[in-house]
Amino acid sequence: MVTESAFNTLMAAVNSPLIVVTTAVDDERGGCVVGFHSQSSIGPQHYSLWLSKANHTYVLGLRARHFAVHFLTSEDMEIAELFGGRSGKDTDKFAGLDLDIDDTGLPLLRQCPNRMVLERLAVLDDGGDHVCVTTRAVSAEGEGEFVPLRAVDLAHLDPGHSSEERAIRP
Ligand SMILES: Cc1cc2nc3c(=O)[nH]c(=O)nc-3n(C[C@H](O)[C@H](O)[C@H](O)COP(=O)(O)O)c2cc1C
Repeated sequence: MVTESAFNTLMAAVNSPLIVVTTAVDDERGGCVVGFHSQSSIGPQHYSLWLSKANHTYVLGLRARHFAVHFLTSEDMEIAELFGGRSGKDTDKFAGLDLDIDDTGLPLLRQCPNRMVLERLAVLDDGGDHVCVTTRAVSAEGEGEFVPLRAVDLAHLDPGHSSEERAIRP
């Protein structure tokens, strides 16, 4: 049997590196901090991430074809607090940020240069509180080694939506 505390202790020990995922559909854009993500194939180069059904980014993500993944560094606390602590339902998180808009319309955060553009392959809803989005990498760029911002660094933050919230109906 898996107790909740043993599960949580293991996950805390893993202490995932954090990314900001952004996406855009028509004239709407969104993004949030994500701790559930991983490379999921070597060749072809696939990457998977999980979006909480409570999040604004999930609602957009169901319709989006492309996602940008920005790997956060230890210097990125402010942007992590913005994208992890506020919801796009009631805040324009992109206001005042320096953005590059790529040819698919994705907002890329200029202050986060370690990033990839991903194209969606499939979405899996296995009944959990997050859905899995599998993708293939379309482009990747970076500035070499960095110290990742990790889940423990955001332990003080109340997420914009908790995973216990009811799923947002798209
Ligand atoms: C450390 C940490 C890890 C998180 N991991 C995820 C995640 O893997 N997937 C997800 O959808 N949300 C995750 N969140 C929650 C969202 O980033 C947060 O609720 C955000 O405010 C949602 O914004 P939105 O409603 O604009 O999408 C995480 C938050 C924190 C602080």
